[in-house]
Amino acid sequence: MKFFIDTANLAQIKEAQELGVLDGVTTNPSLMAKEGITGRDNILKHYVDICNIVDGDVSAEVIATDYESMIKEGEELADLHEQIVVKIPMIKDGVKAIKYFSDKGIRTNCTLVFSVGQALLAAKAGASYVSPFIGRLDDISTDGLNLIAEIRHVYDNYDFGTEILAASIRHTMHVIDCAKIGADVMTGPLSSIEGLLKHPLTDSGLAKFLEDYQKGN
Ligand code: E4P
Repeated sequence: MKFFIDTANLAQIKEAQELGVLDGVTTNPSLMAKEGITGRDNILKHYVDICNIVDGDVSAEVIATDYESMIKEGEELADLHEQIVVKIPMIKDGVKAIKYFSDKGIRTNCTLVFSVGQALLAAKAGASYVSPFIGRLDDISTDGLNLIAEIRHVYDNYDFGTEILAASIRHTMHVIDCAKIGADVMTGPLSSIEGLLKHPLTDSGLAKFLEDYQKGN
């Protein structure tokens, strides 16, 4: 399972990269705004800064919603750095754009996916990644993990190459459950990754080892 961090915060990206388990980064317009990154030039520069920190794919989302503009914007994003994956929303023109980019060998991440039908369409269009938002489904009393399981089933039926990128991860149990189901990638906050470290028996066991070592020395 690949681990992506879902943030535009450079300090957190560096911290995750230094842990040695990071495979990529996802961003979206809200995450960029949260870091105060505004204006086209600043946003493009920020994507390059992220690519220079992380070894792996960096999703950069188009703002355009019509086909022609998505192509123009997506090509500009893809030209920024070889690690860029163009993030395209699951709308009709988005599906057409994914097909265009796929034919050109430009990698895409189909975002804002909330149903198996949408995931099937993204795979048919040739998306490199599909991003089902599990946390946002959980927020409205719908089982987000079940969506991951259903997409896994459908993709395996037909051997689609599209990778399932479980997105909108809110906590560590989401990461573990997605791994059990077989999601190819998860993207979440740093806390969801660091939560995997924690166990009270590790802490108490280490404290005891150190205490016993001190007694003998
Ligand atoms: C995915 O790529 C999105 O950036 C993200 O996971 C959305 O998560 P949220 O629902 O916590 O905003």
